Order: sequence, then C-alpha cells, then structure tokens
Amino acid sequence: MNIIYDESSRVFRLDTKNSSYIIAVVDKEGFLCHVHYGAPVSDTEMSIFTRQKEYPFIPGDYNRERAAFHDGFQFEFAGNGVGDFRESAVAVLDEDGGTAAEFFYRSHRIFRGKPKLPGLPASFADEQDCMTLEITTHDPVLGLDAKLLYTVFEDSDVITRSVVVENNSTRPIRLTKIMSMCMDMDDAGYDLLTLHGSWGRERHIERQKLRHGKQSVGSTRGRSSHQEHPFIALLSPNASQTTGEVYAFNFVYSGCFLAQVEKDQFDFLRVLMGINPQDFAWLLQPGESFTAPEAVMVYSAEGLDKMTHTFHDFYRNHLIRSPYRDKKRPILINNWEATYFDFDDDKLVDIARTAKQAGIEMLVMDDGWFGCRNDDNSSLGDWWVNENKLKGGIGSLVRRVNELGMKFGIWFEPEMVSMDSELCRAHPDWVIRLPGREPCLSRNQYVLDLSRRDVIDYVYESVAGILRSANIEYVKWDMNRHLCDLGSAFLEKERKGELLHRCVLGVYELQERLLEEFPDLLLENCSSGGGRYDPGMLYYSPQIWCSDNTEAIDRLAIQEGTALIYPLSTMGAHVSDCPNHAVGRTTPFETRGHVALAGTFGYELDITRISQEDRDMIPGQVALYHKHNDLVRSGDYYRVASYNDNRLYDFYGVVAKDRSEALFTYVQVIHRINMRSLRLRIPGLDADRKYRLEETGEVFYGNTLMNMGYPVTEISGDFRSRLLHFVAE
Ligand code: DGJ
Repeated sequence: MNIIYDESSRVFRLDTKNSSYIIAVVDKEGFLCHVHYGAPVSDTEMSIFTRQKEYPFIPGDYNRERAAFHDGFQFEFAGNGVGDFRESAVAVLDEDGGTAAEFFYRSHRIFRGKPKLPGLPASFADEQDCMTLEITTHDPVLGLDAKLLYTVFEDSDVITRSVVVENNSTRPIRLTKIMSMCMDMDDAGYDLLTLHGSWGRERHIERQKLRHGKQSVGSTRGRSSHQEHPFIALLSPNASQTTGEVYAFNFVYSGCFLAQVEKDQFDFLRVLMGINPQDFAWLLQPGESFTAPEAVMVYSAEGLDKMTHTFHDFYRNHLIRSPYRDKKRPILINNWEATYFDFDDDKLVDIARTAKQAGIEMLVMDDGWFGCRNDDNSSLGDWWVNENKLKGGIGSLVRRVNELGMKFGIWFEPEMVSMDSELCRAHPDWVIRLPGREPCLSRNQYVLDLSRRDVIDYVYESVAGILRSANIEYVKWDMNRHLCDLGSAFLEKERKGELLHRCVLGVYELQERLLEEFPDLLLENCSSGGGRYDPGMLYYSPQIWCSDNTEAIDRLAIQEGTALIYPLSTMGAHVSDCPNHAVGRTTPFETRGHVALAGTFGYELDITRISQEDRDMIPGQVALYHKHNDLVRSGDYYRVASYNDNRLYDFYGVVAKDRSEALFTYVQVIHRINMRSLRLRIPGLDADRKYRLEETGEVFYGNTLMNMGYPVTEISGDFRSRLLHFVAE
C-alpha cells in the first residue's frame, strides 16, 4: 500500500497489493486526468498516456478547440456544461440559474488513516493500515471546492472514494448532482455485470456486452431496492470465475443511487456511481459542505472468485462493526411464516419450548405484537404492546422465553406509519406527502418524514423504550415500501430536494444511536426481504434478511448473487415449511437445511405443527450449523457451477483461510436419468496436501480435487442436495 505524488510529472500513483490507480494533473489550468486503474505499473512519467500531444491538444496550447478537448479528455471528476457532453460527475443550480461546474486541481494532502464521513456509513481501518489522498479541486467561478478522497488499504485490493463539496463563496448554491466516483478509462471489449431482481427474486446475476451509449442501473425508490443493485462490474471478455480482469464498484449507501457506464465515440468508458440525481438537490449556504457517500472499487486480475474474496474480506474486516461479526449467531426461529399475525404469548411460548428441545437458541417475534395490529392495515407507529395478544406485556413474555433457556428478539418497522394508527391521527404532518395530492398508500402505510428531528426522536424513543423494558437481544428492522409523493411539511421550499437523502441519513442516525445505547444488540436489517441489502446497512447490522422467498431452489440464485459481493455471514437464511408459502414448491427438509447453512441459518416455520419426521431432522441440522459455521463465516467462498446458468444443479463451497478444510454444497435441482457422475472441481485447496472426504473416507491430493474435481453422483429425485466436507490430513 502506498500513495505517491511525483512532483516533476505531476502524477499521483495509488498502489494496493495488486493494483495501481493513476491520476495526472495536466496543463497550467490543472485538469485532472484519469490515467490508469488496473494491474500494477511502476512508471510515473505519464504524459503520453494523458494524450497531451494528440489532437485536439490541451486548451492552454490551443484554446480554439477547447470543446473538442473536453469531449475526449479522460477526466477524473467530470464537470458540467462546458464542453464535455458525457454524463457529468457534478452539477449545480447557482443563484443566476446556471448549471455549469468545472473543477481544477488546487492542492493535495497525503496522510495515514482515513477520515470519517459524517453521518454516513463508511469503511474504516487503523491509521497504520490505510493511507488517504485528498485532492482539493476548485471551481473559480462558483467558488466551490470539491475534495476528492481516495483511501488504499494495507490488506485489500480496494480503493474507496468519496467527495466533499464545500461552498467557499459568498452566495448560496444548490448541488443538483454529486457522484461519489467518476472514472474514465479505455474500453477493452468489456462485459457489464449487474444484479437485477424484484420482490422475492433479489440480486440475480446478469451479464451483457457493453455497447455504445449509457448503460445504467439505479434506484429512485428511496431504498437501494430489490429491482437494481448499487453494484456494477466490468469484465474482460474472457473473464470467468478464475480468470480475466474484473473492475467492480459497490456503493455504501441505502437510498436512491445511480451506477452508470457510458461508452463514447472514442471507445472510452466513463464509470459513475453516486446518489441518484433524480429528485436530489442540496442547498449549500456559504461555508456549508456536503459529503457524498463512499464508493468501493475492487480490481481483480483473477476473475470473479478473487473479486468476491476481496469484497468479503474487506467488508468483514473494514465495514462490519458489530460485536457479532466474528461470532456464531444464535440459531433463531422466527414466527412470521409460522403464524403471520395470528399469535399470542402462549403460542409463542409453545414454539419456543419445542424449538429449544430441538437445539434452537432464540425466538424472534415478528410483525403483529403492537397497537391493534392483526393484519397489515393498521398500527405502525403505535409501538406499544397489544396486551390482548401478549398477556402480561412484553416483560412477561420475554421472561417466559428466557426461562426456557431461549434468547428473545423482536421486529420493528420504525420508518413507517399506518394510515389507521394513533400516530397518524395525532401527527398527519409527519407523513411524507405532497400538498394538494392524495399520497400513495402502499401496504396501507405511509413513510415518516425522517428529515424532522421530532420524528427521529419519537421513532428512537419508541424502539429504545421497548428494548429498555425487557431482555431483548435481537432486533429485525424492517422497511416495507418505496418512497414517493416527496413532500415534507418541515423542509423549506429550497430544501425540498434534500428529503430522500435526509431520510436515509435519518435511518443511519437512528441505527447508530441504537447501537450506542445497546452495543450488544444483534441487529438484522430487512426490507420486504432483501430490498435494502447494501454495504450501508452492513455498517450497522452484521446480517440482512436476504429475501422473503425462503424456498430453497429459488434461494439458489438469490444467494448466489448476494454472495458475489457480500460475506455469507451477512445473509439471513432460514429453513421454512412446505409447500413453500411464496412459490408453492415442496423440497426435502434436508435440502432446505443445506441451502440455509450458507447463510446465518435459522427457522421460519411452526415447529409445533410440522411433521415429526421433519422435526426430528432439526437437531442434526443444528449440529451441522455448529460444526461448520466458523468455516462458513470466515472462509473463502467459491462458486463452481450455477443452476442459474445450467438449469440443472448448483455447486459452491467455502474453504478455510488456512486451507485445512472445505465444505462444498451440491444441489441437484433436476435429476437426469442414466447419467454418469459429474466431476466438480474443488478449488482453493493446497495442491500437495491430502484431503479426506468425511462422508466417504476417500482421500485425494488437493491438486487432484482442484484440477480433476470430485465425481459427484446423481441422487434419485429432484431438489436433492449433498454436503461434501474435505478435511486436510
Ligand atoms: C417483510 C419481511 O421481509 C418479513 O420477513 C416479515 O417481517 C414481514 N415484513 C412482516 O410484515
């Protein structure tokens, strides 16, 4: 890890173990040129790569063609409205109605450590383990400074980026677009990989050839969303799991985002990632500043597996803060799919008692315990216990569950208010809505205006008050609708465009406060399943509910896409009942257990009512969890085959960092008759070490397993699965 500035060539070079990132200051005006990101290079004399001698030259030499220069220069932070017709990284609305912005190099600092981003989630490292470059750029006409922040880390092929814009003029100015990262590069025939989805179908991997023009993913929904994910990767055409170049970008943010690649007339690419400029405008009074959320960049010269390992290690070591990060999580049983709203204290205690006998460790009481909530039509916001359901209140229920030897967890949806609620009747002005328009209901609820201090304080006290009242060790923080009708009774008219971002900041503030007051709380974020599964949320919660679709076969693609970026230790995954409530499919209980073992592991069923045969399998699954979870949580994840591609089977696994053991999972979705075994490679082992397959006692050298694979035989029947545990001898 290093950052240098070569005075004579005016070049910055940021080095991680296996990548270099190069920026040059060009011409007397101080244009910032992006020169290189990728495999390491040693030179710092870069003028030929900035194409300074190529037509149309640098404006200082030949100002007549300034527009042509802007049109083709590879900018590090692209301005707006002054001749660069590609998508800009920044735009403003100044007091005269102007939108132009153009930033030039002014100064820089290189220092150890990494500054915090106020109010925002961001990666961290000890001072000796990271270095930061801060380049201050300046728009002399607007009087704005933009500080471009880059951090490199000792142990990761990661560079993080952010931008802080400061209004150093004497006039207010509105920021209408601020991308956290902008990078221009030469195309090399790249493919674009993205994750798309819907409710119950989150994060499916999609790969396509880049074409000319703009290709983007984004969210305008107020959450990072099920539909598109704040992640894009550029892959060299030959890139596979193990080979080829990958440039990956992930946004540490939980609201509306834009991630875009634009291929221009010169086959140059511009990659942008930031808050979605749609419905965004931030007023900067003189002296005020705005900090854009962090973007994480990963370069891999060894395909997707390496990219995945880099993200997993980085998020485990430098983003997740929870004390549970490196610990086995309690195996939980959640009553949502067991009872929905139809439960009382006795029913929950029955579930807890039977669960305890099977080895389950925590009961989570889901939606329906408060106000008059017996369906999803009422009571969000009325966070007081419904004593008709929980006789004796929450304290009594928690005590009864604790007395069984079980921990207790609870569900909230703090950002919302039901139309039919005491809260909504008392404070209609706390609802996000536009004057004169009927606000859209969704699931019969509105979104609270978290730009308001009084709302934040009410929400905080509602949640914290319940947590203070009993021994509650886990919170599932849910969020079940998009944001629209973007009006606030509180924000002045020139600040209306701040609402979406202020709501995200409000969520971050609430979760930060909660963790400060309850540092040992296990927080699991959730948003109609996996609608807000992003690095921003991981800063607060070490696990996120992956999807409302708990069906084992559908989960394969969801968990594959999620695990492409996020550690398995973060993936909320439960065994549920069959026929599955979401899709109606029936799969063996064993398969459901094997698939859930790739995540946090737990149950989402009425354990008192499932068949005795299934119930009898739970202690075995619990034992598997205890046996393998340290490995699953901390090891390197490998994807070998994907049902999403081959429509037949899935094969993935985890290898211990010291390569002493590996656990691979084979899920045979369709049984093909009269087939020979499938040789499936077991990557990541030590070539010269011998490994024993625990299930059969067979012993092989690592290189045999890695290069020839292990012949996995078909199992009779569809939806069957098998674990392969290899242990070094
Ligand atoms: C959506 C979540 O994803 C579910 O798990 C459940 O908690 C429901 N909300 C409750 O309303």
